[in-house]
Amino acid sequence: MLAIRSEEKADHARVFEILTAAFERSNEANLVEVLRSSAEPYISLVAEKDGRILGHIFFSPVAIESSGEPSGLAGLAPVAVDPAHQGLGIGGALIRAGLERCRELGWHAVFLVGDPAYYARFGFALASPMRFSYGSPALDAVLQVYEVSPGVLDGHGGRVLFHPAFAETGCG
Ligand SMILES: CC(C)(COP(=O)(O)OP(=O)(O)OC[C@H]1O[C@@H](n2cnc3c(N)ncnc32)[C@H](O)[C@@H]1OP(=O)(O)O)[C@@H](O)C(=O)NCCC(=O)NCCS
Repeated sequence: MLAIRSEEKADHARVFEILTAAFERSNEANLVEVLRSSAEPYISLVAEKDGRILGHIFFSPVAIESSGEPSGLAGLAPVAVDPAHQGLGIGGALIRAGLERCRELGWHAVFLVGDPAYYARFGFALASPMRFSYGSPALDAVLQVYEVSPGVLDGHGGRVLFHPAFAETGCG
């Protein structure tokens, strides 16, 4: 049975391996290494089956470059599943469990950059019609947001600032 649980220190090497395999580069694996020691708070979950970790998801705080931003905003990145186990619902289970943890932590909205065809099923909507931007036309088109607290972003907008580690590791 698949279990979603908080990441522990003993999982770090396996998480690094999954991220590197899923993204076919080490940028996202390095990003998570940096975020663990510099993002506060963060959520890091793993998907485990029969004692083997098969997937991982990470959430860290984001800010909005405008005055009067609502507090408690998160970014979802990265999420990755072992390539040999993709398409089996593990990514979806990680995202749904992660959004529930965000709610428990008191985060009110979650931003991400990714394929809208995948994330719409979890309730994510395009963020640019809500006047949010990532800062580049290509990424603005795939910036999405999920309101954990519906309506929390009403009347807000601006550039979404992920943790500096994203740019430093070539992930942003
Ligand atoms: C994206 C990812 C985490 C999804 O995990 P998963 O366990 O394979 O996904 P699930 O089994 O929950 O969902 C499978 C569905 O998502 C779709 N899907 C997966 N990745 C997709 C993508 N990038 N774009 C659109 N759809 C995608 C599949 O086609 C499938 O669709 P269906 O249910 O209609 O058949 C995984 O494929 C992965 O690790 N990819 C490489 C890393 C990556 O791109 N991460 C996301 C960016 S941060």
